[in-house]
Amino acid sequence: MSAHARGLAGVPATQSSISSIDGEKGILAYRGYSIDVLAAHSHYEETALLLLEGELPSARALSAFDAALRAQRVLKPEVISLMHALPQNGHPMHMLQCVVASLDMFYPGEISQPTSARAYADPDYVRTMTIKIIARMPLLVAYWERLRRGGAVIEPRAGLGYAANFLTMLTGKEPEPFMARLMDACLILHAEHTINASTFAAMVTGSTLANPYGVISAAIGALSGPLHGGANQRVLDMLDEIGSPGKVKGWLDKKLAAREIIWGMGHREYKVKDPRAVVLHGLIEKLVEHRGGKVSRYYDIARTLEEAAKETLAAKGVYPNVDFYSGILYHELGIPADQFTALFAVARSAGWLAHWSEQIADNRIFRPTQVYTGEALREYVPLKDR
Ligand code: COA
Repeated sequence: MSAHARGLAGVPATQSSISSIDGEKGILAYRGYSIDVLAAHSHYEETALLLLEGELPSARALSAFDAALRAQRVLKPEVISLMHALPQNGHPMHMLQCVVASLDMFYPGEISQPTSARAYADPDYVRTMTIKIIARMPLLVAYWERLRRGGAVIEPRAGLGYAANFLTMLTGKEPEPFMARLMDACLILHAEHTINASTFAAMVTGSTLANPYGVISAAIGALSGPLHGGANQRVLDMLDEIGSPGKVKGWLDKKLAAREIIWGMGHREYKVKDPRAVVLHGLIEKLVEHRGGKVSRYYDIARTLEEAAKETLAAKGVYPNVDFYSGILYHELGIPADQFTALFAVARSAGWLAHWSEQIADNRIFRPTQVYTGEALREYVPLKDR
């Protein structure tokens, strides 16, 4: 019997030129550009275009992409009616998965009916769909936030960039430039991460020539799980449970003795601190400085936990991942904890679509094999004889 690789650990499932990880050195690069550099100098629109097209865009290409994104910040009223019909206490990720999947019904003319993978991979079609999806995702998340609070939705502001517009629609007030910049950096850091579980779900779905709304909806479902994107919400719950820096050590010892998961720690690919966590940690430090030392108690608890975990989890190569510090920043931006994973999904839409585009440009349907461990062929026993 041949062995299988649990969780496909170490199995290359595709080839890709979109992003790369050096898990020993703690490096993540999009198209060869290190993410700390992108987080410091780029903005989400530019990074998305880099991911989608492979090169840093010219000023002209970037401004055309930005204008196209702004022009697509609109949803049919029927989509908002569907959102009204969903249970308002439902999780934002479930809303997002459902409503994104429904967009192919609300916008049937947008969907290509492919007769071959090649026809489907038409660059104009891919580009148009990519822009529509990246532009609409934040609208869905922000509209949901307003609807479930019983308030009126906040219409997009054409004069604002992607991050500032998203924050304004979510929170109801236009952020100061420093906070908009923090949000932008968070979007960049979450935009892509090689072939993780949700990206793989997108690629598998895309490989069947399912339409791009179905592809993104599948990816959102995968991202919602707590071992993947859902961890960022759990981190805040965990910090609440710990309560104060002084209680960290006892809490951690108890959890590890019970072999429980410490949320926001550990990663299949990194054996050092996740480079995104390094940048996010630095951003919180900048925020502390900006606010004259005033940030929530979450930060003190989190960094005490990171230090305490060095004595135990670091020996296994388990360090903070992207979700460890992101929730603290989102909290400071005034975003409710159950929206954290939806923000991740908005940002990751660029990476998912880059992989979808790469997949259908050279498509072969995913169909792995298995190691069968069930019964050999046997006789059917009629019900009366069992
Ligand atoms: N808390 C406690 N122990 C952890 C841990 C965590 N967050 N992450 C890994 N470990 C331990 C495992 O228990 C295992 O220990 P063992 O060798 O004694 O059995 C060892 O480290 C290896 O972990 P493993 O579960 O095999 O890693 P994986 O690659 O299959 O899983 C994750 C990776 C991300 C799913 C895992 O680290 C995890 O569950 N993290 C918490 C959830 C999270 O933050 N997810 C977001 C990822 S960006």
